[in-house]
Amino acid sequence: MSLLELVKKRKSVRHFLDMKVEKEKIDYIMECARHAPSAVNFQPCYYYIIESDESKALLQKCYGRRWFSSTNIPVYILACVDTNASWKRSYDQKDHGDIDVAIAVEHICLAAAEMNLGSCWVCDFDPVLCKELFSLPDNLEPAVIIPLGYPTSEEKSRTPRKLLSEISEVI
Ligand SMILES: Cc1cc2nc3c(=O)[nH]c(=O)nc-3n(C[C@H](O)[C@H](O)[C@H](O)COP(=O)(O)O)c2cc1C
Repeated sequence: MSLLELVKKRKSVRHFLDMKVEKEKIDYIMECARHAPSAVNFQPCYYYIIESDESKALLQKCYGRRWFSSTNIPVYILACVDTNASWKRSYDQKDHGDIDVAIAVEHICLAAAEMNLGSCWVCDFDPVLCKELFSLPDNLEPAVIIPLGYPTSEEKSRTPRKLLSEISEVI
């Protein structure tokens, strides 16, 4: 599969089959996250792989959509940024941790698609509640939650994209 084919294969999946995800697939996906680039190679990302019913129940409190609490979701990845470790640009102190974690999360989602798994970026969750429920230290910012599992056939097709001519120009 070419990279473009894989990029097009990935789409947000919010309906999952009641099937476990094999450990080797999770390991492969996390290996793809581990190899993501980061600013100055500071590698500020930290991941919780959430598989226990107890941890899932806590996570589901942070994002109240019904699909997110489906008992069919076998695993969630909570991707965090260690703000003590992330690179800050000297000119304006811009923290690049969110950029680093975004790259790694898309690696996760593409690797999942390669393994015929569905995933979805979730950022619209309550970060304060998440920090509290998982007793995260002050420097660990929960950034993205990624539910992972085998998609059902009812999953809708890809959403459309703007044309290249609308989003770029040669200057
Ligand atoms: C940074 C980011 C945050 C997102 N947050 C959420 C979210 O909180 N809940 C959700 O259901 N989808 C979320 N999404 C999924 C987008 O809605 C989805 O990627 C977009 O509509 C394009 O559809 P596609 O992923 O199927 O290509 C998010 C996506 C990104 C990139």
